[in-house]
Amino acid sequence: MKILVVGGGNMGITYAKSLLNAHIVSNDSLMILEKSNEKAEQLKALNIGTIYGAPGEYVKEADLIILAVKPQDSEVLFPKIKGYIDRQQVVLSIMAGISIDTISQSLDCKKIIRAMPNLPAQVSSGMTVYTSSEDVTRIELVMVQNILNSTGKTIYVDQEKLIDASTAISGSGPAYVFFYIQTLIDSAQKLGFNKSQAELLAYTTFKGTINLFNKHNFSCEEWISKVASRGGTTEAALHSFRNNEVKLKLEEAYEAAFLRARELSN
Ligand SMILES: NC(=O)c1ccc[n+]([C@@H]2O[C@H](COP(=O)([O-])OP(=O)(O)OC[C@H]3O[C@@H](n4cnc5c(N)ncnc54)[C@H](OP(=O)(O)O)[C@@H]3O)[C@@H](O)[C@H]2O)c1
Repeated sequence: MKILVVGGGNMGITYAKSLLNAHIVSNDSLMILEKSNEKAEQLKALNIGTIYGAPGEYVKEADLIILAVKPQDSEVLFPKIKGYIDRQQVVLSIMAGISIDTISQSLDCKKIIRAMPNLPAQVSSGMTVYTSSEDVTRIELVMVQNILNSTGKTIYVDQEKLIDASTAISGSGPAYVFFYIQTLIDSAQKLGFNKSQAELLAYTTFKGTINLFNKHNFSCEEWISKVASRGGTTEAALHSFRNNEVKLKLEEAYEAAFLRARELSN
């Protein structure tokens, strides 16, 4: 099997490395199309597949084409590669907000899988939600599922609108988590810790909480009740969260991400 990754940025390289590490393709069967000279040079130094700077006949050799450019770059990319794409080729797009219909019309192809991964895919701890067009066969779907599984956990969904929903939750989610950790760091500094102490407090608390969560089968609500005793310090913070409608504000933020994904889709 030959695979072409279009876009050698964060996600494109994550996929290229996962494909090689999981022995899904050999170095000889992996192609990367990257327009940035600087990134192309970095990739050549890493010895990950064959690097191309512009589309060409080689695109036709790929059994699977992974689209990993920014959504806003797709309009420029599509007409450039359209002429090289065969209707039998499988296209896997990880671009946020670009619908299966748009990809099908822009590239004149019909076997399309749309996936929404997230950045922890870089360390094989990603969460990917994916769906496919009707023309993708069961065997092709299993092939792509194996690729996605090499980057972490996956969920297949029937409805494409759930891809936009997953963009707002797991796709953008790591940024929300980092935002929350940063608020802990900032508050620790305000309370008198120096920067490195504040970072240690926040990162260790976060890692420890996740480790604990992974060890036992309790829900978040149950864990909260284990930390917060009646009339205690944690309850004071939770009370402040409620008074300030923090949950509602966060839900509004996730909704904004979802609406933006829908807007891009349209
Ligand atoms: N990063 C995430 O956490 C995340 C999560 C889920 C989904 N995604 C999706 O993954 C996709 C890629 O995101 P990313 O973070 O990897 O972006 P990125 O780091 O900016 O990588 C995109 C790469 O594609 C290159 N490129 C742009 N137009 C091209 C063209 N016509 N031909 C070849 N290469 C081209 C860019 O080059 P230049 O730098 O020169 O423009 C860049 O190196 C996006 O569509 C995003 O929605 C990302």
